[in-house]
Amino acid sequence: MRLFERIEAQLEKLPERPFWPRPSPLDFTTNDYLALQADGIIAEILRGFPAELWRGSGASRYLGGDHPAYHHLENLLHEKYGQPALLFPSGFVANITLWEALAQRGDTIIYDREVHASIRQGLRLSLAQAWGFPHNDWEAAEKLLRQARGETFLVVESLYSMRGDMPDPEALRYLQARYECHLILDEAHTTLIYPDGETWAHHHGLNPLLTLITFGKAVGLMGAALLAPPLLHTYLQRRCIGTIYSTALPPLIAAAVAQVFAQARAWLPRQTQLWQTVALLRKRLSAEGIPFLGLQGPIAMVKTPAAGIPLKRLSPPTVPEPMYRLSLHANHTQQDIETLVRALKVGMNQL
Ligand SMILES: Cc1ncc(COP(=O)(O)O)c(C=O)c1O
Repeated sequence: MRLFERIEAQLEKLPERPFWPRPSPLDFTTNDYLALQADGIIAEILRGFPAELWRGSGASRYLGGDHPAYHHLENLLHEKYGQPALLFPSGFVANITLWEALAQRGDTIIYDREVHASIRQGLRLSLAQAWGFPHNDWEAAEKLLRQARGETFLVVESLYSMRGDMPDPEALRYLQARYECHLILDEAHTTLIYPDGETWAHHHGLNPLLTLITFGKAVGLMGAALLAPPLLHTYLQRRCIGTIYSTALPPLIAAAVAQVFAQARAWLPRQTQLWQTVALLRKRLSAEGIPFLGLQGPIAMVKTPAAGIPLKRLSPPTVPEPMYRLSLHANHTQQDIETLVRALKVGMNQL
């Protein structure tokens, strides 16, 4: 088949994917969990920087694009999280380029099948064997771990964006100790949502080999960092193509991300508010008999649309059955939650 005929045939099967600006005034869609964007905090931070920073990086950090702002951010993250940090232009780039460098032929990667598309694509670039287990099914994961050969990696997320649930920290602790596997955690959706910016892993007393934190969600900007032990950090810095062969973030962004992390204590009222809102919505949905999944963090999945409030509708294979995803933010008021619950009830009755 000629290329354009083939593409036309494929397009017929693909649902439309419209671009979607931030809903206003009620945003239950974006990942601005701490509302640092919505409340103008990010704008204020950006405005505070001198003109010297108002530019792109110009190149990869290894080709004239390095800037003190990246070192400042990496040092700050190192100090904060106790492990050296390596910056990436995005979480997507980090995940897609990590595995080719980290795992080798003869190794085994065991991953939750619901991990982000960037991890799944990244695993395809590695020569190691990669085995998926059904979402949060620890017995299935253990069966695979028993058969694993070589260096063994166990890959999970701290909060699943299309489910709203988390892995069981006890199961991870057990599997890590019993099988001496390397735990790799993608913390994209939990970055900065715990007091003082503590990681989900630290919050639960876990000790992953590698942690991905991202700056495009609660942090309100963009970019990502891998936190790794010193030897692995040095190795990835020399070997991981996502950080070597890609234009570095604009220094302004790195400087602003650093400022957000430097002020992590100031976000405590927002973090507290966010978790209270999570608890409130859980209580209200249960009380109103509205079925939901997730809400172990600020993400919920509901089966019904919310009348008048735009929610992202997800279809299989992203989710097992059609669902609407909603995310909670620190600036949602009790009244906003009531508006949402009422809209979901109306949506439920219209089905
Ligand atoms: C779990 C997870 N990891 C990685 C990414 C990619 O991060 P970024 O948006 O910084 O590219 C996402 C994005 O949604 C994600 O949900």
